[in-house]
Amino acid sequence: MAEFKILITSQKGGVGKSTVSANLAAYLCKQGHQVALLDFDLHGSSSKWLEGAPPIGINIHHEPLPLEVGGTRPMNEAKQKLRRLCYSNDIVISDLTWSDSVTAELLFEYDLVIVPTSVSEIELNATSDFLERFRWVFESTLHRAPRLLLSPTRVQNDQLMDTSLFKQHFPFRLILAPAILEGQSARQMYKRGYLCDLNDACGASFNEFGGALVEAIAMISQDKAQVANDGNSRMKALLKLAAQYEASLKSVFH
Ligand SMILES: Nc1ncnc2c1ncn2[C@@H]1O[C@H](COP(=O)(O)OP(=O)(O)OP(=O)(O)O)[C@@H](O)[C@H]1O
Ligand SMILES: [Mg+2]
Repeated sequence: MAEFKILITSQKGGVGKSTVSANLAAYLCKQGHQVALLDFDLHGSSSKWLEGAPPIGINIHHEPLPLEVGGTRPMNEAKQKLRRLCYSNDIVISDLTWSDSVTAELLFEYDLVIVPTSVSEIELNATSDFLERFRWVFESTLHRAPRLLLSPTRVQNDQLMDTSLFKQHFPFRLILAPAILEGQSARQMYKRGYLCDLNDACGASFNEFGGALVEAIAMISQDKAQVANDGNSRMKALLKLAAQYEASLKSVFH
């Protein structure tokens, strides 16, 4: 598989970014991919999780961004680190708490941006405000736009996943992932194991989420290959035109 870059982010604390980052890395690694985790957060929760859990071959990198220095340096460093990891991994997953020092250009580095959110009215409103600011990125036709995936997390068993609720809060193009359930067992796995190995409702919901992600990655990769192919055929057509032009010039001069 060609490299695939995933950013897991949100402005909100405690929504499950690090839990999803570490455990999605584990899920995809267990599916046979070479996976790297690039933890941009100072606390390093997702990298610590994977360092503590039984090793399964994930490349773990804790690289806090020097956001305090401001300017272009933090974003340039982030892009460099991400690109370097792409040479030796199929999938790179970044964990980042969004802040105002992070700029939208970073989003364009990724194939998929996952935004975890809980499903209370307050949280949905906050997530919707956050995404509204970057809607132009996901709808951009100038750059190759990343796809957006909304991931309901820490969902209580009795909280209905009413998709019309999401349509109402997010009236733009996104992929809605199956909900990851709230479970005490998820917290107990920190630094010890992986949600995909839990034999309870929380584990089952996580595996459903992982399966949906595998499908989303396949779909987006296919689109990417298509765009590259279209680009190639456009390039071939241009080269052919150039060759014809050169040939006609030669016939004029000789
Ligand atoms: N599905 C879940 N069930 C139960 N607890 C969860 C679940 N997902 C995350 N948590 C717990 O919620 C808390 C926050 O999770 P996590 O650290 O993944 O969020 P975060 O968005 O990365 O937070 P931060 O903003 O601090 O980086 C942790 O205590 C974690 O164990
Ligand atoms: Mg975190």
